[in-house]
Amino acid sequence: MGADASGAVLEIEQGLTGLGTSFRDAFAAAPTEQALRDAHARVLGKKGDLTALLKRMGAVPAEARKVLGEQVNALKAEVESAFAARLAALARASRDAELAATPFDLSLPARVGTPRGHEHPIARVRDDLLAIFRDLGFVVASGPEVEFEANNFTRLGFPPDHPATDMQDSFWVSPGILLRTHTSNVQVREMMSRPPPLAVVSAGAVYRRDDDVTHSPMFHQIEGFLVAERVSFAELKGVLTAFAERLYGPGTPVRFRPSYFPFVEPGAEVDVGCVFCALPDGTRGGCRVCKHTGWLEVLGCGMIHPVVFEHVGIDPEKYTGFAFGLGVERVAMLRYGIPDIRLLFENDPRMLAQFG
Ligand code: PHE
Repeated sequence: MGADASGAVLEIEQGLTGLGTSFRDAFAAAPTEQALRDAHARVLGKKGDLTALLKRMGAVPAEARKVLGEQVNALKAEVESAFAARLAALARASRDAELAATPFDLSLPARVGTPRGHEHPIARVRDDLLAIFRDLGFVVASGPEVEFEANNFTRLGFPPDHPATDMQDSFWVSPGILLRTHTSNVQVREMMSRPPPLAVVSAGAVYRRDDDVTHSPMFHQIEGFLVAERVSFAELKGVLTAFAERLYGPGTPVRFRPSYFPFVEPGAEVDVGCVFCALPDGTRGGCRVCKHTGWLEVLGCGMIHPVVFEHVGIDPEKYTGFAFGLGVERVAMLRYGIPDIRLLFENDPRMLAQFG
């Protein structure tokens, strides 16, 4: 027998004695399945003590291998069976503990159901506003958000160098095509597609390069217009007064201030009496929302400019009409007391759930 061969025999014999039955105590002491598996790995894992002995078997001469091999294999079988027994005991113990514990109450209803969806506050306000004008006899139409410069600006009488047409204020898609900056493009499209009399209302998204607490680069407008024979500012005032009363209650005061839009003449901005500081006697105390003016600015309007009629092929000698436009977000923010327009578009469920 060579030196290494006899060395291997000695090593394995000593190893077997050293291992003895210590693994039994280690297995029995393992409190969890993981601890048991760790203890098992220390014996029979890749770097386990018994694995090391098994590896040395190759160096044992043939005549000694039979006896020694039987001893090593016997120990290996012992380790495996002790491991399996302890594993089963641990499993049984945890099952017993589970059975002994307070049982699940299967009659409890599930904690999470499928949450019910609901309208976005912008959609709700938009539909409320449209409903008011529909009740007044306006027909609902829609127009594209990607629009020709001609329909968004030129036919509405914007001069080519008007600041609204500037690269800074509009989102241009390509030369002559942009994201509409207002819903007034629907006036042009509707007037070009059918003859008066026309009473149309429309709602949709519009885009401007604005972004702060009260301005979003995408927001929503409602546009309305009416074209017929002998339409005057009186009808415009009547329609918008009826609208304000439907929206904010009977007796809501309405105020027209002269203003400028290229496609109307005369043009006006409309304020309604502040609904937040209205007093029972009809006066208004002034508050933060109306900046102590007693008035809330809600829309732009005016009598449709004859040049617009000419551009869309309507005889301005025969027909007159009015148009108005208002922001949906502004109405929603006032109605729900939302301080920052961005809250409406962040889609935070904690915010939106309040409208369920
Ligand atoms: N289009 C205008 C704007 O966006 C609003 C408006 C519409 C004014 C119709 C007058 C008539 O500011």
